[in-house]
Amino acid sequence: MFRIRRIEREDLDQLFALDKRCFRPGIAYSKSELAYFLNHSRSLTYAAVDASESILGFAIAESKLEQGRRIGHIVTIDVDPSLRRQGIGQRLMQEMIEGLRAQRAVAIRLEVAVDNLEAQSFYRKLGFTPTGRIPDFYMGTLDALTMECSLESAPDSFS
Ligand SMILES: CC(C)(COP(=O)(O)OP(=O)(O)OC[C@H]1O[C@@H](n2cnc3c(N)ncnc32)[C@H](O)[C@@H]1OP(=O)(O)O)[C@@H](O)C(=O)NCCC(=O)NCCS
Repeated sequence: MFRIRRIEREDLDQLFALDKRCFRPGIAYSKSELAYFLNHSRSLTYAAVDASESILGFAIAESKLEQGRRIGHIVTIDVDPSLRRQGIGQRLMQEMIEGLRAQRAVAIRLEVAVDNLEAQSFYRKLGFTPTGRIPDFYMGTLDALTMECSLESAPDSFS
């Protein structure tokens, strides 16, 4: 059982700890990087929490104008490793899409490590398609796959 709410300033320590469990050193964000994204006026932030307010997963996106069109960009999405494949990631993305649509964003973009096949499967399931590859994007050695999902065609619900 979980509910989705906006991330609050007091969540930072939990987010940092969870991000370290989800990503290897060099890809995981520092606490100051996470704090930057949380404080940014154009960030959208969602957490999945249980009844005792423990964070089970979270997602952060930014949105910005590109040639007059608002584009969302996924900063990160993290689900507790022991709670995966239970729909938490999907619910977080669903909220994110609704939030970005409310800002009149027309598409969402992201980067994902080329060796992160689990996340690539997740994004494909949600309607993202590969758009390119950025050499040495992570740690100066690991390529990123770029993916995009049009919000004009994305379903309202993934269920
Ligand atoms: C990617 C991630 C957020 C998915 O979270 P999740 O809560 O497990 O995802 P869901 O349960 O909502 O999965 C939805 C669908 O995505 C697909 N999917 C999710 N994880 C998958 C996996 N490991 N392998 C294959 N498909 C997967 C499935 O189609 C799944 O539906 P199903 O379980 O009914 O088959 C989670 O694995 C994670 O935190 N990974 C580490 C951090 C990360 O890589 N983030 C993305 C970086 S760009």
